[in-house]
Amino acid sequence: MAVIALKCPHIRVTVVDVNQQRIADWNDENTDNLPVYEPGLAEVVKEARSRNLFFSTDVNEAIRTSELIFISVNTPTKTYGVGKGMAADLKYIELCARQIADVADNNKIVVEKSTLPVRTAQSIQTILSNNAKGLSFQVLSNPEFLAEGTAVADLFEPDRVLIGGDQSPEGLEAIEALTSVYANWVPRERILQTNVWSSELSKLTANAFLAQRISSINSISALCEKTGANVDEIARAIGSDSRIGPKFLKASVGFGGSCFQKDIMNLVYLCRHFGLPEVANYWQEVIHINDYQKHRFAKQIIDSLFNTVSGKKISFLGWAFKKDTNDTRESAAIYVAWELLQDQAEIHVFDPRVDKEQILRDLDYLAEQNIEFSKIKDKLIANIRVYDNPYEAMDDAHAIALLTEWDEFKEYDWTRIYKGVKKPAFVFDGRNLLNKEALETIGFEVKGIGR
Ligand SMILES: NC(=O)c1ccc[n+]([C@@H]2O[C@H](COP(=O)([O-])OP(=O)(O)OC[C@H]3O[C@@H](n4cnc5c(N)ncnc54)[C@H](O)[C@@H]3O)[C@@H](O)[C@H]2O)c1
Repeated sequence: MAVIALKCPHIRVTVVDVNQQRIADWNDENTDNLPVYEPGLAEVVKEARSRNLFFSTDVNEAIRTSELIFISVNTPTKTYGVGKGMAADLKYIELCARQIADVADNNKIVVEKSTLPVRTAQSIQTILSNNAKGLSFQVLSNPEFLAEGTAVADLFEPDRVLIGGDQSPEGLEAIEALTSVYANWVPRERILQTNVWSSELSKLTANAFLAQRISSINSISALCEKTGANVDEIARAIGSDSRIGPKFLKASVGFGGSCFQKDIMNLVYLCRHFGLPEVANYWQEVIHINDYQKHRFAKQIIDSLFNTVSGKKISFLGWAFKKDTNDTRESAAIYVAWELLQDQAEIHVFDPRVDKEQILRDLDYLAEQNIEFSKIKDKLIANIRVYDNPYEAMDDAHAIALLTEWDEFKEYDWTRIYKGVKKPAFVFDGRNLLNKEALETIGFEVKGIGR
């Protein structure tokens, strides 16, 4: 929304949220305090906020005064009842639709910006149509393809913008209204118009394909470790084939983030619902390999440290699910930490953008999902320490595990770090980020992924 406001100075953009603290943070004079860290975002917000971008908790007022309403609320995996652990929880979407139907006093275009299961627009339309005021609403699907860490750059120059809508004259008019917003900075040929079901399903499919590429190369990394092949060399060799392409072929400890797992589970659930178990199982394996990869990484650490990490200090470089974001949702670090904590490790974390409160919240959240963890959580969490200084986090460590590919980790003084750690000095590079040969020359024993 900040980028729309920046690129369309003639449009008034109001972002509303029920979370008062978040809105206060978005309005904070000091843009270092914005709730989301993304390169370039603070500058965009600052400029747009001085002109046509507003943050407010007055949801009703925003509904009444807007022509286009983007629903961008969270759609987490259900943690209860029918579809628990698989289906998307659409209660927040439903609440928004009901509130719009109650409060609106003229016709609106309602845009699904959240990622939703195919055919959700039908439910939104049904709720909106059941207003007593005779108002008419058009529901569009406009899924968001930005990647965290490069969100602003992705929004400035998207590969494509996708807009799905009803193919009636009113639906086509609504599609055109939204197209004309993006056309302020996106070339028209990159704005794809489809029917609403194709648009909804495209987003789930795109995330499933991206995650599948990561699980595919990660599955090969396990075979590399058994055979002496190097997964980075394989990625380069196959990525040079123009039919395959080089992107998203980096082997790692596994993907995280709030979207991939949730969206694939959602796809799997939909396939089961529609009686397609073979298709469901196919996509389920992408998640299975990802869990396997995180487990393999933790097991490699324990195996290498003579089959136990009890009482040993393991330093984590990175906690965010990827570099250039402070988002930690579903980060591989959380799961690797949990496995090592169960083996009674002490974990010493440094992440340039993630603070201790967030790390403890992540472990709390894991405990909510995992009954085993919840029973022993307090005892284990006492074994987590969080540092502002990376060198202190690694001092006297039995092993260093690199979980996030922050660029700055490459620039550290590894000779100094080597002097401070216990010997043999292990580095487990979960992102294949560091220069293995250089570290080995210093004296480290380096174990990467698939190499
Ligand atoms: N984060 C991403 O990179 C990304 C990318 C593409 C798509 N998406 C999709 O966008 C959606 C939102 O993701 P997110 O990461 O921003 O989630 P988030 O949880 O960070 O933000 C959702 C916000 O919605 C607010 N909210 C919930 N119910 C509300 C209501 N009734 N009225 C007003 N505000 C309400 C919450 O307070 C919260 O601040 C999800 O469907 C997600 O799959 C996210």
